[in-house]
Amino acid sequence: MPPPNDLDAFFMPFSASRQFRKTPRLLASAEGMYYKTVDGRSILDGTAGLWCVNAGHCRPEITAAIADQLGVLDYAPNLQVAHPLAFDLANRLRAMTPPNLTQAFFTNSGSESADTAMKIARAYFHARGETERTILIGRARGYHGVNYGGISAGGIPNNKEAFGPLLPDTDHLPDTHDLTRNSFSRGQPEHGIDFADHLEVLIEKYGADRIAAVMVEPVAGSTGVLVPPVGYLERLRELCTQNGILLIFDEVITGFGRLGTPFGSDYFGVTPDIMALAKGLTSATIPMGAVMVTQEIQDAFMQGPEHLIEFFHGYTYSGHPAACAAAHATIDIYERDGLLTRATKLGQQWEDGLHALADCPHVIDIRNIGLMGAVELASIDGAPVKRAFNAFRAAFDKGVLIRTTGDTIALSPPLIIRRDEIDKLFSTLRAVLHEI
Ligand SMILES: Cc1ncc(COP(=O)(O)O)c(C=O)c1O
Repeated sequence: MPPPNDLDAFFMPFSASRQFRKTPRLLASAEGMYYKTVDGRSILDGTAGLWCVNAGHCRPEITAAIADQLGVLDYAPNLQVAHPLAFDLANRLRAMTPPNLTQAFFTNSGSESADTAMKIARAYFHARGETERTILIGRARGYHGVNYGGISAGGIPNNKEAFGPLLPDTDHLPDTHDLTRNSFSRGQPEHGIDFADHLEVLIEKYGADRIAAVMVEPVAGSTGVLVPPVGYLERLRELCTQNGILLIFDEVITGFGRLGTPFGSDYFGVTPDIMALAKGLTSATIPMGAVMVTQEIQDAFMQGPEHLIEFFHGYTYSGHPAACAAAHATIDIYERDGLLTRATKLGQQWEDGLHALADCPHVIDIRNIGLMGAVELASIDGAPVKRAFNAFRAAFDKGVLIRTTGDTIALSPPLIIRRDEIDKLFSTLRAVLHEI
């Protein structure tokens, strides 16, 4: 594919686009663990695209399923009419997710799943006549996409600052990152169950009967792989149950095998009332998300005359046929190749390889869980973010795609990664850290 002549017209998302236009990094094709640049260089994908290409790139079975579906039924709405694949997929997700999560609502992205989850929580209480229960509690350093609900419940100042008044009735738990007590933890950090106790402060502040839901990522991914301390999620679950508050897990990253179990809830043994999914659902081949809820939540909506709409929410492309076909083919691969548990098999090598970077220059923390990892770097005085960005550019020049957030390098390769590719990822990173 030839490079475009003019890079000006595309208003790029979340990019340092002026820098990009000076030294473009253009990807032309992909297969398995590798991208290929427009000038023919192979780039090892250390980030599964954006935490999403869990099955590896350009799997022929997924491509064929999408093409076949588009030849049979290119589009059908799921509003008042519907198509069978969406029901089949909902049933499949019901069987895969924790047993209490039985109903699937389809979206087109993680942001839409997060906002849909929040709307379902509020509307559930509205349907039950608890109209005062509107407060949504997120967490500092939480990422729930970029729509107004998601940035309001989310905890990333840069994502909120320029966008005017946000959603009212939102508040936040503190984040769980604690370098003083937990630096260089392997897996779940030991200290920090107390961060969950802050929910009691918010319950005291607002009254339990005003809080609709608490929404957290089981592992905060986008702000640098913040692994929940031992007992933390259990404590949140306990406080939510005690106070009639819904617990929402945003599993957009932790869903579909990232931690070595099908979902983060399986890994931690903590079950939410609502689960937001996207990314790995189709291994990112076609945009798609889903929100899983309990039977009890759906039942609350099933009132009034039967000819009336029960939930005033949905998207033109909710459960798009091509996306459903992609999801089915993706889940077939996950099941056939054992990908949803593969991270468990690779976990020790991953952890050891990552933590061996502790002696490299600039490193102030290393964190890991499943096939997720983070290397936090000391910021350059007066130029936060620059050191990690330099690492990102140097790694790309050396043929490895990493992701950076603040001054943290985040890693999350496709779940098909081989052992020698793990070694290559970390040896390249070692060279990068010595170079920058
Ligand atoms: C936990 C979480 N929620 C939501 C999103 C938003 O997903 P999308 O970019 O598909 O809207 C992301 C994206 O990284 C995410 O990590």
